[in-house]
Amino acid sequence: MKRSEVNAYIKEAEGIFASYGFLLPEFASWSAEDFAANRESCAEIFDCKLGWDVTDFGSDDYLNCGLLLFTLRNGIANSAKYSKPYAEKIMLVKPGQVTPMHCHYRKQEDIINRGGGKLVFKLHSDDNGKPGSGKVSVAMDGRMLTVDSGSTIIVPPGCSLTLTPGVFHTFYAEIGGKPVVTGEVSSVNDDDNDNCFAEPRKRFPGLEEDVEPYRLLVADY
Ligand SMILES: [Fe+2]
Repeated sequence: MKRSEVNAYIKEAEGIFASYGFLLPEFASWSAEDFAANRESCAEIFDCKLGWDVTDFGSDDYLNCGLLLFTLRNGIANSAKYSKPYAEKIMLVKPGQVTPMHCHYRKQEDIINRGGGKLVFKLHSDDNGKPGSGKVSVAMDGRMLTVDSGSTIIVPPGCSLTLTPGVFHTFYAEIGGKPVVTGEVSSVNDDDNDNCFAEPRKRFPGLEEDVEPYRLLVADY
């Protein structure tokens, strides 16, 4: 992706999040100079990778395979300094924009439709680190669902799915509908080591630096 595209998608997301009343912390609008001036006092932001994150998973096709995220809070496993056992993100998922099939080795996450269109999930069981064909169980807001691998589950606004480690999942916003303001509440998040993609993907592909950053990304820290 080009930095100019990332800048435009962040500006768009800022407007959409605000229109749903989801307000971001102050550092969401910091400049690179603000981050530099606060590097010591805000070590948690850098070390726990809080903030903006825009990825096309290396697809070079962001609108069909990509995700925009802002990590609001996070900890580090087995860290005395950053002992939060939980994480929270807000994300923007566009119609037909797929987050590729993956599972997590350790993280348990609730993916929450906080408004907009419907979220569409496809789930698979785990077959030795690859999507399997067995039954798979998830809870939708406390109601246990057991479905065949490959099944589609629709998550409407207000609803959420609880994904336990090893459950393969892919999701997108319903085609023809609105973008979905999507929350994530989870155990600690470690995007460097805890994503098991079904096919080779880059979680943090590099950018083509054609303009200055509008906001820094966690990958810029
Ligand atoms: Fe996930």
